[in-house]
Amino acid sequence: MGQALRAVRGMNDILPAQSSGWRALEQGFRAWAERYGFGEIRTPLVEPTALFGRSIGDGTDIVDKEMYSFVDKGEHALTLRPEGTASVVRAFVQHKLYALEPVTKLYYLGPMYRRERPARGRYRQFHQVGVELFGDAGPLVDAEVIDLAVRYLEAAGIPRLAVHLNSLGGPAARSAYEIALKTYLTPHRTSLSADSQRRLELNPLRILDSKDPADQAVVQHAPTLTAFLDDTDRAHFAALQEALARLDIPVVHDPKLVRGLDYYSRTLFEIRATDDTLGAQNAVCGGGRYDALVQSLGGPDCPAVGFAMGLERLLLLQPSQPAPTTPDVFAVAVSPDERPTLLALVQQLRQHGLSVDVDLRGQSLKSQMRRADKSGARLALLLGADEAAASAVQVRDLVAQQSERLAQSGLAAALRARLDAAAASSDTER
Ligand code: HAM
Repeated sequence: MGQALRAVRGMNDILPAQSSGWRALEQGFRAWAERYGFGEIRTPLVEPTALFGRSIGDGTDIVDKEMYSFVDKGEHALTLRPEGTASVVRAFVQHKLYALEPVTKLYYLGPMYRRERPARGRYRQFHQVGVELFGDAGPLVDAEVIDLAVRYLEAAGIPRLAVHLNSLGGPAARSAYEIALKTYLTPHRTSLSADSQRRLELNPLRILDSKDPADQAVVQHAPTLTAFLDDTDRAHFAALQEALARLDIPVVHDPKLVRGLDYYSRTLFEIRATDDTLGAQNAVCGGGRYDALVQSLGGPDCPAVGFAMGLERLLLLQPSQPAPTTPDVFAVAVSPDERPTLLALVQQLRQHGLSVDVDLRGQSLKSQMRRADKSGARLALLLGADEAAASAVQVRDLVAQQSERLAQSGLAAALRARLDAAAASSDTER
């Protein structure tokens, strides 16, 4: 036997026992995003490497350390997308979607790739759901987008979350603040972690959300961004907070929230788990406004706001997940000779919309009945020589432990009626 290969570190298989939980989160997100007026966009997993340096930013951890980049046959520098926003903006500009409607609302779901150190809630292939809204610079859409995130998480049954909110201000406020922060941090240089000493030159704002205790001690007394906001920034932030209050969304104003991507301006938010289920990886959703990005990627001057959340983290936080799907019916051949007729009957039932499982290996009746019980099917359908001769079947309710004989003609409708009745009575018992 050859040596078994394993999946790449930090990249996970999702097995059938887990996939109903995944599907429920994905279907729920589609439904909620569409309820808020967003339409789905699907972009390639691979993009030109330059896209991410120009959007997420050279000097960020993602671009400098975490991208899966390669040269395609010695010709094109390509990267597995580390997030969705850059790709969606690229597509928005490339297809001139801005020319179709004044406001464009897009949602997406799919795998993203970052070469981070794997830990609980942190993987190298992970899955995001997200939205991006283009063409509205006002604070009310920031509130609308945050509301979508909050209501979806609530409907998904994720407990104990807090919305952290900050404003980065416009480019002027941000660069004035960067200078002030650098001036404050430079005398403390040697007390900072090695990573933050490097960030001091490249991206001093990132030091603010460092998890390193040495950095946190220094940062504690740093000037805050809030003091640098101009009047328009302040009015935007105040109106956003007011709108969120009206939408019943409590927030924590967190002046040190900066997030690790360069494209943000003004509104920034993160939704975090408040218990320690996720350890350091407690952010389930991150987002904000990026009013300059469309233009810097070659599009028109077009404001935008969005968020993304990590599905793996939501699954870790969900107290219970939906049960795996089970067939309606398990079909059983009383003797191996009945198998071809049984298969034809099963095909008919499936074409009528029933989900039917069957074991065609020619196992004993007892072993097939054991599999029927284990399958979770409500009904077993048995075909023996007698039934075959009479164009009939035996149907056994595996919960009520009762059997009856039914004609093969009209069988799908008869089975459906029994399944519906069984579902209705188990609903009233609950
Ligand atoms: P982000 O904060 O880098 O933002 O990622 C958003 C979410 O993706 C995180 O809050 C987390 O739940 C999940 N996530 C990120 N990295 C990992 C990982 N290595 N393993 C598991 N989950 C992870 C963005 O990606 C922005 N594009 C969000 C955005 C959209 N801003 C505006 N529009």
